[in-house]
Amino acid sequence: MMHRLQRLLLSPSAICAAVFLSVVVAGLSMAQNAQIAGADQDIFAVNKAIGSGINLGNMLDAPAEGEWGVKFQDEYAQIIRNAGFRHVRLPVRWSAHTSSQAPYWIDPVFMKRVRHVVDTCLKAGLCVVLNVHHFEEIYTTPEQQEARLLAIWKQISTEFRKAPNELLFELLNEPQAGLTTSKWNRMIPTLLSEVRQLHPHRAIVIGGGRWNSFEELEQLQLPDNDRMLIATFHYYHPFEFTHQGVDFLKETPPPPGRKFPVDESEARSIKSHFTIVSQWAAKNKRPVYVGEFGVAQTAAQSDRARWIQTIASEASDRGFSLACWEFCSQFGLWSSETGLWNTEIIRALDSVASKQETVLPSKDH
Ligand code: BGC
Repeated sequence: MMHRLQRLLLSPSAICAAVFLSVVVAGLSMAQNAQIAGADQDIFAVNKAIGSGINLGNMLDAPAEGEWGVKFQDEYAQIIRNAGFRHVRLPVRWSAHTSSQAPYWIDPVFMKRVRHVVDTCLKAGLCVVLNVHHFEEIYTTPEQQEARLLAIWKQISTEFRKAPNELLFELLNEPQAGLTTSKWNRMIPTLLSEVRQLHPHRAIVIGGGRWNSFEELEQLQLPDNDRMLIATFHYYHPFEFTHQGVDFLKETPPPPGRKFPVDESEARSIKSHFTIVSQWAAKNKRPVYVGEFGVAQTAAQSDRARWIQTIASEASDRGFSLACWEFCSQFGLWSSETGLWNTEIIRALDSVASKQETVLPSKDH
């Protein structure tokens, strides 16, 4: 039988769109505005507060905003908040707007734009995870680019020195290639001490190498004396399912038509990956954030929803926060053409969000 929300979605009229939105709001917004308390805030409580979010992908992480077909519009913040998400992850390609020579100035116009996006999202009641994304040069020549990354963080820290606790920083998206986890481990303390000068208590997100793979967490070294850190990993397994038919890979993309799951072992192996992470988290007493997980729109709709629900459940059952990749581009959950959410996926996330309300890892994790 067709679900009520689906029927509303299928109706072309604007009235239905409005009704749909209010149904979603009623369904999901048991989440109040995410709020993060003051200096003595427990980092596990911060991770619970950011809960379920979405990536504002392909906007400020494109070489120039708009170049990948999507630009941030102010109304997006409220649309996301109204759908029940607690936070946005904001990927930003700072390196494309930072001079290549010392003192590595960030273009002030770009800084202002990022500031505007952050403020708009905060004002809408969302937490924001602001990162450094697609810093291609540091992946290939880490040693030469370390000072540039440090300068970028010094400027971001200064710009956002008065920001509320609902703003989180993430030091670097997906260290990869030449930037191995061991090289990255050596940079982390320097970057942290720079940021901590102005942000002693702000929550900071850090992941390991090989594109923030879960397997690298074991090698990741987070300074023991900094307890305001959230560990992150990204999850796109099986890649031949999540990335079927996409057009941005350097290699030939996996062919379209791949289903999920193909057999029972697939769900079992996902579970075992998440178990490895939760064991790592318990041993290291760190909260965990699945900062990216998503499926291209080229996958069959029902399989896509099933995969997202599977991953979101595995994450929230273990008290991990999460952010779907992404809002309104190739992996998008919302359509800028219709102004509507993908209801099946929102419903899947909704069921997980309601569980999240009750899942809080104990303090001695
Ligand atoms: C990249 C995106 C890409 C996504 C899915 C992200 O980490 O930054 O450009 O679309 O992964 O592959």
